[in-house]
Amino acid sequence: MQPDTDTLNKAVALLREGQVVAIPTETVYGLAGDARNPEALARIFSVKERPHFDPLILHSPSLEAVTEVVTDFPPTARRLAEKFWPGPLTLVLPKALWVPDLATSGLPSVAVRVPAHPVARELLQKFDGFLAAPSANRFGRISPTTAQAVNDELGGRIPLVLDGGPCQNGIESTIISFIEGQPRCVRLGALPVEEIEAVIGPVLTGPVADARIAPGNLASHYAPRKPLYIWDGSNTLPRGKRVGWLTFKTVKITGFTNVRCLSPTGDLVEAASRFFQTLRELDSSAVDIILAEPFPEQGLGRALNDRLRRASSRS
Ligand code: TXA
Ligand code: MG
Repeated sequence: MQPDTDTLNKAVALLREGQVVAIPTETVYGLAGDARNPEALARIFSVKERPHFDPLILHSPSLEAVTEVVTDFPPTARRLAEKFWPGPLTLVLPKALWVPDLATSGLPSVAVRVPAHPVARELLQKFDGFLAAPSANRFGRISPTTAQAVNDELGGRIPLVLDGGPCQNGIESTIISFIEGQPRCVRLGALPVEEIEAVIGPVLTGPVADARIAPGNLASHYAPRKPLYIWDGSNTLPRGKRVGWLTFKTVKITGFTNVRCLSPTGDLVEAASRFFQTLRELDSSAVDIILAEPFPEQGLGRALNDRLRRASSRS
């Protein structure tokens, strides 16, 4: 699926005017605005109802262009960029002076990536600048992986949604910060940490208390409307409730009102690509609560378990 040239030109014109446009990326749909225009950045925050302490990711047309937004690009970071861009990897590096405080929530660092989706790439080429783009959902809610999901989340609030079909990866980019001495993963995501470590060696992981290093890592996030619990099958099912079950590969169906299996063959790539959309569908089906089967704690399974923990933390 590819928007026609007129639609892409319209998107560029809107972005130049400081408007926001929803765009497909290979991870999730983003709500894009001109990174140089504080008014556009403010609009992103207000459309999403996003708190200002949660900084945005800048999307660059190319690796070379990234040198304009950072003041230091250490060789380890560059190796990752050369290996994985365009793709679902975000790097956090010291920011260039011009990058507005609104984009970085006042931090001296900036998050940046080169997306791989052909529509995002073509738009960035035509726009010839940097686009700040958080996921195109209202704050705290499930990330959208289809144009329809963006319309469900933000319809009526934005002038244009570019439809690039369903997102291939289905979960957000992996974020690696280079602002301490050693590289640190501040968000697990579509690129498994194991693949990153194969290129640059050990990467720090695990929770960080310092909000200057890992801002926006809120406990509650990606939340469906219905309560969600992580359920490994060891407890009995709640009585008198219509229960939806989100499983990784189990297809057993007794006792549930609705069972959705992400990958009967146990393929984590397939499971990730379907995760948010399936959660969204289960959430709007006739169930009172959602139980979710944990994933194996390796590769993409780690990123998916992270999303499940945050989606369930209110429950
Ligand atoms: O896959 C993705 O990364 C998607 C698509 C649209 O590109 N975007 C996305 O953006 O997930 P968002 O706004 O949902 O995530 C932004 C997160 C922040 O919550 C924070 O964790 C991290 O990026 N971040 C941004 N700037 C940072 C910085 N200066 N230092 C550390 N983390 C930062
Ligand atoms: Mg998000």
